[in-house]
Amino acid sequence: MTRCDSTQAWAALQGHFQAHGRDLDLREAFARDPGRYRAFGFEAPEVYADLSKNHLDAATLHFLLDLARECGLPAQRDAMLRGEIANATEGRAVLHTALRAPAGLGPFSDEVHAVLGAMLNYAEQVRADGHITDIVNIGIGGSDLGPQMAVRALESFAQGGQRLHFVSNVDGHDIAPLLARLDAKKTLFIVASKTFTTQETMANAHAARDWFLSTGGGRTERHFAACTTNVAAAAAFGISTTFGFWDWVGGRYSLWSAIGLPIAIAIGADNFRALLAGAHAMDRHFAEAPLAQNLPVVLGLMDVWYRNFHGYTSRSVAPYHQGLARLPAYLQQLEMESNGKRVDLGGKALPYGTSPVVWGEPGTNGQHAYFQMLHQGSDVIPVEFIAVKHPTHKLAEQHRMLLANCLAQSQALMLGKTAAQALAEQAPTASADIEPEVLAQHRSFPGNRPSTTLVLDQLTPRALGALIALYEHRVWASGTVWGINSFDQWGVELGKALCGQLLPRLRSGDTAGLDASTAGLLQRLTA
Ligand code: F6P
Repeated sequence: MTRCDSTQAWAALQGHFQAHGRDLDLREAFARDPGRYRAFGFEAPEVYADLSKNHLDAATLHFLLDLARECGLPAQRDAMLRGEIANATEGRAVLHTALRAPAGLGPFSDEVHAVLGAMLNYAEQVRADGHITDIVNIGIGGSDLGPQMAVRALESFAQGGQRLHFVSNVDGHDIAPLLARLDAKKTLFIVASKTFTTQETMANAHAARDWFLSTGGGRTERHFAACTTNVAAAAAFGISTTFGFWDWVGGRYSLWSAIGLPIAIAIGADNFRALLAGAHAMDRHFAEAPLAQNLPVVLGLMDVWYRNFHGYTSRSVAPYHQGLARLPAYLQQLEMESNGKRVDLGGKALPYGTSPVVWGEPGTNGQHAYFQMLHQGSDVIPVEFIAVKHPTHKLAEQHRMLLANCLAQSQALMLGKTAAQALAEQAPTASADIEPEVLAQHRSFPGNRPSTTLVLDQLTPRALGALIALYEHRVWASGTVWGINSFDQWGVELGKALCGQLLPRLRSGDTAGLDASTAGLLQRLTA
């Protein structure tokens, strides 16, 4: 496959960037083209995307789509969806899409639907079990972030009175205070780990089991379940209720599998099936929509445009829905673990940037924290707003306030304010100690700062499924253009190995052979 920076489209994009792209002014672009909002509006299942406030024009999109074709995106997408090896460094297929395909469709359908049916039956059983008041999911990374984000997002669809808790950190401050509040007889622990070897999860699972046994919880079979591809290890731990999945489900793509058990317990089987259906609708859009209307592909291409041509190194996500509070954390793993790579498939170092830093907070909270930097800081940071039309509460005026804030922020980023405008607005006595012209400079905004707004009708299970699948495929699209493997995560291994070597030294205090900094710190922490 031709590397992206050797394609004709890349060269064309470079020329286009120099000639027009770099200097595109959004205010002028809207003034010139009254059809801009419509031209850069994309309809996908459950999600409308307004890309018109981005540094794009028709030519940019044209060249980016050429880039996608020259990098072989359609053929690579189809091969992945068919189940060919798309994760070469681990020799695995990548088939999270198979987890949400209706029965009888797609690869591994029988296995997928057998586990799904069993997992959903169990979830309904737990929901109906009046003795269980608290469910604790023990897992980390993909075995925590997806379920936690979705349970929070779909809180208003949870009819049961059971409480769900998520424990991930090996730090005992995570699990200890939780256990102190729980009644072992009324608690169900779900040990969620693809590998069933992850240090943090195993440590917390052992702590939970010790606590359970020492506080008279009763039969562990009734109070522990596991979601894992390593059924033998779960059995060795003493868990008999296990829901399996497969090596072709990446950890950060696994909320649709047995790892989704806490979601199913929270919202019930029908709602969980709606979540899968929404993701499947987005999968079909990704598989079938022409590239020019294919929202995940277009968003992934825009990420390439911003990262490699504009040189923007980060993207801020601002969900204007409190239920999506954990979405930025979830996206950090999805995007940065997937595309935080520096060599191509052939192992050669890449001369261009890959994953941006993804970060954010729900609006309006972010506005009162770091939006200052987004509006007036020295870096341009594209912002992704997520607006939801219908709330699930009855505070209509507060919802209008929320949406007004969301629209105002993208408008302010784009419009900015000149020093002359600021000066004209200033009361003559604004401050006795500062020249009015100087103050006006502080109060001016450069504007022309790009943003995307994604719009959902309501944050339903179906809409959330579609939104998450949109992000998954978008990450694939940029990763595929960059020619990297978006499905491995070797970068987490070195730290794990060194931790394994340091742990005995934490017990003994032995610092022999360590670098001076690590030795000094270890001594300070242990002496
Ligand atoms: O952080 C590395 C990682 O392997 C993630 O990719 C994964 O989601 C997480 O650890 C947890 O892994 P497991 O589900 O096997 O416990």
